[in-house]
Amino acid sequence: METVTTVAALRQRITAARKAGKRIGLVPTMGFLHDGHLTLVRESVAACDVTVVSIFVNPTQFGENEDLSSYPRDTERDLTLCESAGADLIFMPPVSEVYPEGFQTYVEPGPLAEPLCGTFRPGHFRGVATVVAKLFNMVQPDRAYFGRKDFQQTVVVRRMVRDLDMPVDVVAIDTVREQDGVAMSSRNAYLGEEERARARCIFQGLFAAQWAFDNGERQSGRLVDLAREPMSAMDSLQYLEIVDAETLQSVNGTIDRPVAICVAGYIGKTRLIDNVVLAPSEADLVQSAA
Ligand code: PAJ
Repeated sequence: METVTTVAALRQRITAARKAGKRIGLVPTMGFLHDGHLTLVRESVAACDVTVVSIFVNPTQFGENEDLSSYPRDTERDLTLCESAGADLIFMPPVSEVYPEGFQTYVEPGPLAEPLCGTFRPGHFRGVATVVAKLFNMVQPDRAYFGRKDFQQTVVVRRMVRDLDMPVDVVAIDTVREQDGVAMSSRNAYLGEEERARARCIFQGLFAAQWAFDNGERQSGRLVDLAREPMSAMDSLQYLEIVDAETLQSVNGTIDRPVAICVAGYIGKTRLIDNVVLAPSEADLVQSAA
């Protein structure tokens, strides 16, 4: 495994790999890696010849009062974990390499970036889309791996790739959870012991809705009520919403297409997000169309 910090060094390695006919996989991350990230890396290693992991805490996707300066970092540990997961090349640029003096061109996502996290983090997806587009241009991967944990991010990135004709296959990977159901997240490191125990309520709510859905409940209002009950243990809830899995528009009433139940809120000072996808079976869809 090799680590590079400049676009020029990255390009040199990538050009050589391409000339040798290798398939390139990219896993964009902000570091402080956990098994969720490493699952993405392992998927890339299994499907591609060269796996590039980028580790870059992207300032343009953080709001003014957000946690950019305190975002957890542990480069040595990240490198050891990447190596053990089989990564080939780590791209770890300084901020000045990605946003040099005079930088002024951004990717502006459309309405998919407005609901859910978009409402509470204005400009967030503009920052994400911009850095992901830049990483795609720098690495020119055949495939790029993203986690469904950040459901809206995956939808926004897929749309960008289609809209801007980027020659990249976006692969979405299911959320990796701790044993007690809590979604793995670098931000879980902020939680104190009592808070970490309380964070389970997010999964408990989502799981209650998932269970009811799997047992035939199709009314979005009832599913949201079921999910909300355990979530009262959160300090505040920003949103808890059932949305169309493709358009991210709110679904009210009967669920007759794939949806995601998405949640964001605070445990103490830590903002956590999670979701589950609820997909009616083909048989359900035929029945509801009849
Ligand atoms: P970060 O939060 O570090 O996440 C990097 C990738 O890991 C994202 O695609 C995210 O969805 C995925 N991931 C995080 N937790 C996961 C989990 N529990 N299970 C499965 N996948 C998980 O998301 C970002 O960084 C940034 O916005 C980035 C795309 C790198 C752009 O800066």
